[in-house]
Amino acid sequence: MKELADKSIIVTGAGSGIGEAAAVLAAERGAQVTLADIDDDAGQSVLDRIHRDGGTAQFVHVDISITEHVQNMVAAATSAYGKLDGAFNNAGLPAWGQRPGNTSTPFADLTPEMLQGTLDVNVVGTFLCIKHQIEAMLRTGGGSIVNTSSDAGILAIASAGDYVTSKHAVIGLTKSAALDYATQGIRVNALLPGITLTPMMAKSFDKNPELRSWADKMQPIGRVAQPAEVAEAALWLLSDRASFVTGSSLVVDGGFSMV
Ligand SMILES: NC(=O)c1ccc[n+]([C@@H]2O[C@H](COP(=O)([O-])OP(=O)(O)OC[C@H]3O[C@@H](n4cnc5c(N)ncnc54)[C@H](O)[C@@H]3O)[C@@H](O)[C@H]2O)c1
Repeated sequence: MKELADKSIIVTGAGSGIGEAAAVLAAERGAQVTLADIDDDAGQSVLDRIHRDGGTAQFVHVDISITEHVQNMVAAATSAYGKLDGAFNNAGLPAWGQRPGNTSTPFADLTPEMLQGTLDVNVVGTFLCIKHQIEAMLRTGGGSIVNTSSDAGILAIASAGDYVTSKHAVIGLTKSAALDYATQGIRVNALLPGITLTPMMAKSFDKNPELRSWADKMQPIGRVAQPAEVAEAALWLLSDRASFVTGSSLVVDGGFSMV
């Protein structure tokens, strides 16, 4: 029996990086996966890959910061697969200053609009996902929710005040939801990746090769993570093997946060 057999699992940000790795691994382990992403081409290409490998999945276009989109995503999962057992709320934006076309932004150069844009996706979007997933899980027998925070959820990183604030808030969302539903069969945990070689990171490394050697050295393990190494931890939290784990912040960072 495959570990996630017959579990209906949503993965947001499934079109790229950590979300893509999690969606592919979840399907390989028997889950019925609802892939959600704002980027249709990326989501469709991951869906095609899963179908080619014989997995069960569907793709839903979602902007997680829009209530109706999130409601549609949850409804798509429950109507296609009859229930919702798990959700990996992983979609997120990098710091304003790290997005294409922008320049690095120290704290006092951030505008309220820059801060709000990041919070709308990373915090309000994650909140909407958790809220509507809990509603579905209460109806269909409980489940497990994993929210992607970051080492930046417990540490500051330079010139990324909007991102650091948003990722700290994801831990607050996680603990609050975990506490309120602990007796109702719903576990909620946060995942805190260190520097991971996703397409977003690869672009930054291409632009600035020194950043790559800095990133390798910064993580005591001596290298950056592969997306699948982070996805493994999410899948464990989603599985029944993590049945006594709730409200936790699981660091997957090669030791970055211990020094
Ligand atoms: N890569 C890292 O080093 C690293 C480290 C710590 C935390 N994280 C976090 O991990 C998560 C995934 O990061 P990644 O590196 O795989 O990024 P990525 O950019 O490769 O993938 C993110 C995906 O989210 C989607 N997305 C963005 N905004 C969305 C929205 N509003 N609605 C729906 N989908 C949306 C994008 O289209 C993309 O497919 C993010 O929350 C990120 O903050 C990444």
